Amino acid sequence: MNAPLDLARALQAAPASSIPSSLFGLPNQAPHERVLLAADEQTGLKAILAVHNTARGPAFGGCRFWSYDNELSALNDALRLAQGMSLKNALANLPFGGGKAVLIKPAGDFDRAALFAAFGRAVASLDGAYITAEDVGTTTADMRVVQQQTAFVSGIPREGAFGGDPSPKTAWGVFVSIEAGVRLHLKRESLDGVRVALQGLGSVGWHLAEFLHKAGAKLVVADVDAAKVARAQGMFGAQAVGIHEILAADVDVLAPCALGAVLNAQSIPQLRAQLVAGAANNQLATVEDGDTLHQRGIIYLPDYLVNAGGIISVAREFRNEGEESAVMAEVTLIRDRVAELLDRVRVNGNTPAREADAWARSKLVKA
Ligand code: NAI
Repeated sequence: MNAPLDLARALQAAPASSIPSSLFGLPNQAPHERVLLAADEQTGLKAILAVHNTARGPAFGGCRFWSYDNELSALNDALRLAQGMSLKNALANLPFGGGKAVLIKPAGDFDRAALFAAFGRAVASLDGAYITAEDVGTTTADMRVVQQQTAFVSGIPREGAFGGDPSPKTAWGVFVSIEAGVRLHLKRESLDGVRVALQGLGSVGWHLAEFLHKAGAKLVVADVDAAKVARAQGMFGAQAVGIHEILAADVDVLAPCALGAVLNAQSIPQLRAQLVAGAANNQLATVEDGDTLHQRGIIYLPDYLVNAGGIISVAREFRNEGEESAVMAEVTLIRDRVAELLDRVRVNGNTPAREADAWARSKLVKA
């Protein structure tokens, strides 16, 4: 086993924003039930498996494979993402709790299959309290490796059945959310001619661009990968802007599909969109940023409400329930939940972010 986390050194090195304020729970949230630090010297595995809440069922959430500046940032990410999964799974009415795993990318060379096999053993050690799947940086091939060690994994393509990469389902959920938001907040009956800024043309962003283009939306796009941007220009007639300009683009809708914490004190005053709905997890840097958006008259549809399509898909796959059309129908229900949220906002006078949080927390009970 590796040496334990050097907390003192990590604390000195870490910026304040990356340090969890408590190891037992984030501010104003229920504490995490279990957090496993799993290390394996032979493969270089350093993983954090965070089980936030299992009131509705076993904790279900993807596995992120990422380079972190320090181990505390990785821990902070795992805690925030796991808690987000509790809210996401509850709002999606899934019989699962919230959890997430973070694998710290080793600095030098590593054997990817051996690393994910070691991660699979860590998942197995939780005896079903946590079920994993893909997230940023992980692939269906990685999940197949994990599957050799544990049955508590999903997001694996199966012959003649739905399953595998959840990102098209995530994109569909974001798309129907944008449709609902445009109808209810922008008072426009269709997406024809609606201008949408897309930050990130990755697995989800690309599928979302396809759906939006087909519906007649005008796309403004940015990605650090110039090839993806050029492809979007060619295929969708998208307007390309720089990665530092996309948040302030002159559009009706902003769809963040890359990074977390993009809605913050610096970016919010510059936004020109009236509606924000995208796939990226943890888009609000702080709860108060949700209030500022609302004061500016911008409707923010919370990430964990609109991006649940992927978990709905992998959850059905895990339970071996239904078929492709049933998954799509279940994902499409996100549209109704967006409408219900906006109704609740009107009635209760809350911001969408605070209202969704209260709504989801009221559902953190046995499904
Ligand atoms: P991805 O890694 O395939 O795509 C991310 C894209 O963003 C890449 O094309 C990357 O080049 C681009 N990017 C990175 N930094 C950027 C920047 N500063 N400006 C503009 N573009 C930038 O990831 P994926 O799977 O598409 O996920 C996107 C977001 O949605 C992530 O935050 C993820 O956690 C979240 N999400 C994804 C789900 C899924 O089913 N894949 C499910 C729920 C949430």
